[in-house]
Amino acid sequence: MPGLLLDTLNGAPSAKVPLWLMRQAGRYLPEYRELRASKGGFLELAYDSEAACEVTLQPIDRFGFDGAILFSDILIVPHALGQKLEFLAGEGPKLSPRLVDATLESLAPAPERYEPIYETVRLCRKRLPEGVTMLGFAGSPWTVATYMVAGEGSRDQHEARALAYRDPAALQAIIDAIVEQTVTYLSGQIQAGAEAVQIFDSWAGSLAPDEFEKWVIAPNARIVTALAEMHPDIPVIGFPKGSGEKLPAYARETGVKAVGVDETLDPRWVARELPDGMPVQGNLDPLLLLAGSDELEKRVAAILEAFADRPHVFNLGHGIDRRTPIAHVERLIAAVRGWQG
Ligand code: CP3
Repeated sequence: MPGLLLDTLNGAPSAKVPLWLMRQAGRYLPEYRELRASKGGFLELAYDSEAACEVTLQPIDRFGFDGAILFSDILIVPHALGQKLEFLAGEGPKLSPRLVDATLESLAPAPERYEPIYETVRLCRKRLPEGVTMLGFAGSPWTVATYMVAGEGSRDQHEARALAYRDPAALQAIIDAIVEQTVTYLSGQIQAGAEAVQIFDSWAGSLAPDEFEKWVIAPNARIVTALAEMHPDIPVIGFPKGSGEKLPAYARETGVKAVGVDETLDPRWVARELPDGMPVQGNLDPLLLLAGSDELEKRVAAILEAFADRPHVFNLGHGIDRRTPIAHVERLIAAVRGWQG
């Protein structure tokens, strides 16, 4: 089903700018918190297709965004590769055994874990209003590997970064397994009805330039190439958070159709440096949305102006903060929709 978001990702120029927010399905919404409490936890919710579809649609019902992002998590892939996955209250995700202590071969893969996620996509696609784009997603191999290796999140991803220097072949084997799984998983989402997919690389920014080529650009290029063979018409959005001056190389070399940009980059620089006509997504600071000062409308206008000459999907520079007031989201939507360029 065409729609403003899908058309924009495909490079069509338009006077209107489509809008969705990373992590739009989640804890800043009271209706999410209520459903999560009734299901007992995040994973229970993510594997319950009916409930997960309801969460996916909550921000569409409330705000009328142009895209619905599947409610799931990037850590479903390690779970399907056989790691134990838990989300402990207040502590973030835990994976075990961590791959500093165990090999991939010692894990028992559980590919059936993807099935309820595909079912969520199928249900949502049936229920979405016309013109709203169904977005699938996965984590990038590097970002997923940082969790698989350390068994948890960290400030500087030191376990995976150190492994990259100490034993690059070991990290390569992990990355290869994630590449293969990610192609399967994204392809499954597309077959179930996802109309575009995003690859989240939340920790792309922690790598030195040569390492970035090896662990971010090369694996993502393999995923994009494999998906393009199977699903040539499905746009892939790459989001290499924190990539800084390495963003243009990422955009050229991975083959992604569109790039997501975080808030640390000046949109005027991004507009100059990206290939002509390449769709861009971003890049309002989620903390400005949280704070909601007068700067909000000004910054929204500055971003819209900077990207006026190329296809632009309005979004945040990273996920919405869970303390964000609903009223600030409503102001953001009014500012984007009311913009006269
Ligand atoms: O609205 C959406 O974007 C839909 C679904 C989505 C979730 N996680 C749901 C979720 C998406 C796209 C993600 C991506 C994700 N998950 C990333 C990449 C993007 C980013 O934010 O950097 C990463 C690194 C993860 C791993 C992860 N999942 C962490 C570190 C945590 C705990 C901290 C946190 O942000 O809450 C999660 C849990 C998680 N994933 C929640 C949600 C709604 C919160 C769970 C809860 O209800 O307590």
